[in-house]
Amino acid sequence: MATIRDVAKLAGVSVATVSRVINKNGYVNKETEQAVQQAIKMLNYEPNKVARGLASKKTETIALIMPDISNPFFSELARAVEDVARLYGYTVLICNSDNDSGKEQTYINVLKKRYVDGILFATHSLKAADISAMNEAGIPLVLLDRAPSKASCYVVRSKNYEGATLAVRHLLEIGCKKIAHIYGPQETATGKERLLGYEDSVRHFEWFTPSLMVPGHFRINGGMEAVEHLLARHPDVDGIFAGNDLMALGALKKLQQMGLSVPNQVALCGFDGIELTVITEPELTTISQPIYDMGALSTRLLIQKIEGVAVDNQIYEFDVELIARGSTRKDMKTP
Ligand code: RIB
Repeated sequence: MATIRDVAKLAGVSVATVSRVINKNGYVNKETEQAVQQAIKMLNYEPNKVARGLASKKTETIALIMPDISNPFFSELARAVEDVARLYGYTVLICNSDNDSGKEQTYINVLKKRYVDGILFATHSLKAADISAMNEAGIPLVLLDRAPSKASCYVVRSKNYEGATLAVRHLLEIGCKKIAHIYGPQETATGKERLLGYEDSVRHFEWFTPSLMVPGHFRINGGMEAVEHLLARHPDVDGIFAGNDLMALGALKKLQQMGLSVPNQVALCGFDGIELTVITEPELTTISQPIYDMGALSTRLLIQKIEGVAVDNQIYEFDVELIARGSTRKDMKTP
């Protein structure tokens, strides 16, 4: 593997001159530049991206830190990030933090040393102080999905609160008389805002009680356990809004294991719009987030920041959409 020294020797110039030609930073006369390009070609020299990054502070690499890559929401998000990054000539480092703020901090420290050009955070543990520190360190970043509703950087999210009210309204419209909520982790903006949207939509009903809200940890087994707890306390629940699709899928599984018909006895609505919602029977009604668009926009914003094109910090909130399917179909519910 030819090195920058081999190129310098063959071209009869210094390593610093070769570096200036590669990184296009500093004056080199035409003859010298041609000699260096000729030597690069002859030796089939590949500039080391990390070394290049040290010189020009650009490695054409961005990092995406996500909490749970096994959740299809995040893999669909990563798909969009990679598609758009590639369009602009950037490579993506995917980092899975398991919702662990210690792991996130480790990633940030390593990424700073690796000179990635920018970081996309789809996590919740970044504090305002962390964001300020990264801004001061000159590390472009964009927060997406679980971002706080205000931050000193670009934020891309969807309308979680409104989506929750949409889900509850839909369950009421199909005739549900007592609606429960399986909520996601309350340390996440998404889990918290969806729970609030549910609570504000049902608080005034005489049947409402806080024990109708149970945790599901955004996981399939969390949805299964939540249904068991819910129906033990409230066997008359006939509608469930789950704060994400994985918990809704778990809830569907448990309801059917308990011999209950969905939607005839219990109607069910999820949140995200992942592809898995169409392979169940009945298919799952959900509040769909524009996952691909969220990933694509956050990547474009980050690259604009890296390339000095965009400097302001805006919040982009996407609308969400009710996708009504068999798990809430009106005509299937017994009167
Ligand atoms: O399913 C994972 C959940 O965590 C999604 O609803 C997404 O919004 C993220 O916050």
